[in-house]
Amino acid sequence: MGIGYRVLVRPALRVFDSEKSHSRALRALRIASSNPLFRATLSLLYKPRKHLPITRFGQTYQHPFGIAAGLDKKAEALRGWESLGLAFIEIGGITQHEQDGNPKPRMFRASNSMALVNRMGFNNAGSEKTATFLKTHITNIGKPSVPLWANLGKSKITPLEESAADYATTMTRLWKYVDVFVINVSSPNTPNLRELQHDSALESIINSCRGVNQTMSEKHGTAQKPLLVKIAPDLTDDQLHAVVKTARLAGCDGIVATNTTVERSTPSSSSDAKVFAETGGLSGAPLLNRSTEMIHKIYQITDGDWPIVGVGGIMSAQDAWEKIGAGACLLQAYSGFVFEGAGLTKSVVHGLHKKLRESPYSTFEEAIGFSHTESRAIQGNE
Ligand SMILES: Cc1cc2nc3c(=O)[nH]c(=O)nc-3n(C[C@H](O)[C@H](O)[C@H](O)COP(=O)(O)O)c2cc1C
Repeated sequence: MGIGYRVLVRPALRVFDSEKSHSRALRALRIASSNPLFRATLSLLYKPRKHLPITRFGQTYQHPFGIAAGLDKKAEALRGWESLGLAFIEIGGITQHEQDGNPKPRMFRASNSMALVNRMGFNNAGSEKTATFLKTHITNIGKPSVPLWANLGKSKITPLEESAADYATTMTRLWKYVDVFVINVSSPNTPNLRELQHDSALESIINSCRGVNQTMSEKHGTAQKPLLVKIAPDLTDDQLHAVVKTARLAGCDGIVATNTTVERSTPSSSSDAKVFAETGGLSGAPLLNRSTEMIHKIYQITDGDWPIVGVGGIMSAQDAWEKIGAGACLLQAYSGFVFEGAGLTKSVVHGLHKKLRESPYSTFEEAIGFSHTESRAIQGNE
């Protein structure tokens, strides 16, 4: 599929509107995965044969690779992602209120740079409909066999100072159906959302969500759900230190690094330059190094003692391995699926398996943060 996708599908995609082709691909995956024969075929073709088990957030993941937020905002193709062999699925961003998002077009493909620019603006079904949908799905089909995460956003109509209640309401409604929650304060496409990354605002959102966690776990007699925070790659070093400190002190269980960037690198062609000039967040290959650098910094700040989920520009096993070396324990991608197709999961997981075999580490767990250990060893020998 890798070569087939590159030679046939990728050139064809260039002539279609990005958002339309995304919706069509998602619908095709949902329909295909509703049939057991197609599900078996998808698994045969795309599911990784290798395992790289890792236990985090109270659950064991078959390997570290999952889908990033935004790819399946409405949880449309849950069985599809499982059939393709993803180790976990993040749905959303979901906001308290249903919203249409920004006017179209709002998603742009820069094919030569393997990048996307989007200003979707949290188009989603809202917390009430999403909860009803998940309830029906779980009643009729069952819970996904892999951990299900939900990305929590803020409704556009909610004033910034009332954000905490907006996040908390969404979390309350989804609590029963979801394994891990991600507080997203880093989308560049909701006015002023990124301001919520700062001290007291972030602390009050985390406190509200932790309150929900406590109430719901007491009500249902089950454990609390892990709560992560997702950050922007555009934070300065001082801001990053502050966010990490606030989130850890407030009791967050880990961090997702990173969301899309508002910065622009040099585009690979004049057609890509037009895309880069669009307002919105840039993702894909040009984000790789910046997001990996953020992972490095967080690992250093926290002495490798806080789970980091690495996302941003993963197109290959090498990209994924670098993020693990920087300190990520789980990984996600969005743009990589657009440019490399459904075969990305298998190529990343098999590639990571090979890299681990060639490394001095005997388990995947041991390899996490290896570039820090190696640079310490070099310094020690000097
Ligand atoms: C069209 C689109 C929509 C996205 N929507 C969300 C979202 O709702 N919530 C969120 O936290 N991140 C969202 N993201 C960001 C991705 O989850 C991811 O952090 C970012 O794209 C970097 O990863 P990538 O380079 O693999 O695409 C979106 C990205 C794209 C391209």
